[in-house]
Order: sequence, then structure tokens, then C-alpha cells
Amino acid sequence: MMKRLSNTPLFTEDEIQARVRELAREISRDYAGQRLVFVSVLKGATVFASDLLRALTIPAELEFLRAKSYAETHSTGDVVIHHHPGDVLEGKHVLLIEDILDTGQTIAAVLRTLEAHRPASLEVCVLLDKPHRRKVEIVPRYVAFRLDPAVEAGKLFVVGYGLDYNENHRGLRAIHTLVE
Ligand code: IMP
Ligand code: MG
Repeated sequence: MMKRLSNTPLFTEDEIQARVRELAREISRDYAGQRLVFVSVLKGATVFASDLLRALTIPAELEFLRAKSYAETHSTGDVVIHHHPGDVLEGKHVLLIEDILDTGQTIAAVLRTLEAHRPASLEVCVLLDKPHRRKVEIVPRYVAFRLDPAVEAGKLFVVGYGLDYNENHRGLRAIHTLVE
């Protein structure tokens, strides 16, 4: 069965942009006067991170890392991390920007890697949280949207605004669900 985009977006461009501005206000207030670094996870979080960065009213640096999850083939959910920013994080306030917090295994592995580089603080900001799917406890400081488990009861898969399905749909301005 072919998957296609939902006719109505789950979150419209306006809803996303309004929420990004709200989060940017909070982050600007919380990190005022501190050396803030966004660490964005490639590729899904890049659209969110760049909108958020431009909506800040305080300066922030921008770094990237790539995390590949092998949760499908290994029951342990092994995650391999590439191109991590490393030494430039020492003593700075790091905010990890990720697209989706699902089982939590990806973020848990990324946080372990980042912690080793001794940031002054380390917090998590996600575009979408699927709280009922969690296997590893992660408490994000900022969440743009939380997916309601009732709505999510089936296997809701979302695309757009950076999120992909087999590398498609990242350029959509709204967030859609995939339907059969
Ligand atoms: P986890 O938290 O380690 O299970 O994995 C989260 C990662 O799975 C995210 O970074 C996404 O790349 C991917 N992911 C999970 N759910 C979705 C979805 O609905 N759409 C697109 N990617 C997803
Ligand atoms: Mg990802």
C-alpha cells in the first residue's frame, strides 16, 4: 500500500511559526547573558533549528552532529554519532535541537557524547514529543508540540518542516501525517 500525505496538515505553517516564536522568547529569556550553542541533529532538525535561531533575541552559536540509529536491527537501539562538534562546547551552555523525541534512544546517546565535552549546561529542545513511545527517560526542557497518544493510537508518522519519509517531504512548510 502506498503512503500519501494527509490532506489537512497536523500543524500548519502559521501554527509552527507562532510556536517557534514563543519558544525563541523563552530561550532568549532563559539564556540571556550566557554563551549559548545550539547543537542541531542532522538532518531532520535543521529547519527547526534555523527558524529558532533567527527568532532569538540573544546571540547563539550553531553546530551540527549526525546520529544514525540502528534500533531496527539491534534490540539495544545502538546509535552511531558522526561529526560531533567536540571541543568547541567546553564551558558553554548547550541546547540540543532535535526533530522528534520518540523512544529517546537517539537523544540519550547524543547527550552522552555531548556530556563528555564538558558543557556548562546541557538541555534538550524538540519539535515533536511522542511521550507514550519512550523507552529511555529523557526530559526535554523545551517542546514545540506534544503528540496526543489518543490521536497517535495508530502508527502516526509525520513529515514536513525538515522531517522525512525515505528522504521525501522535508521541504514542506507544514507538518503532515502519512496515511495509507
Ligand atoms: P528515537 O527517539 O531514538 O526512537 O528516534 C527518534 C528519531 O526517529 C527521530 O530523530 C526521527 O529521525 C525518527 N522519527 C521518529 N518518528 C518519526 C516520524 O514520525 N517522522 C519522521 N521521523 C521520525
Ligand atoms: Mg532524526
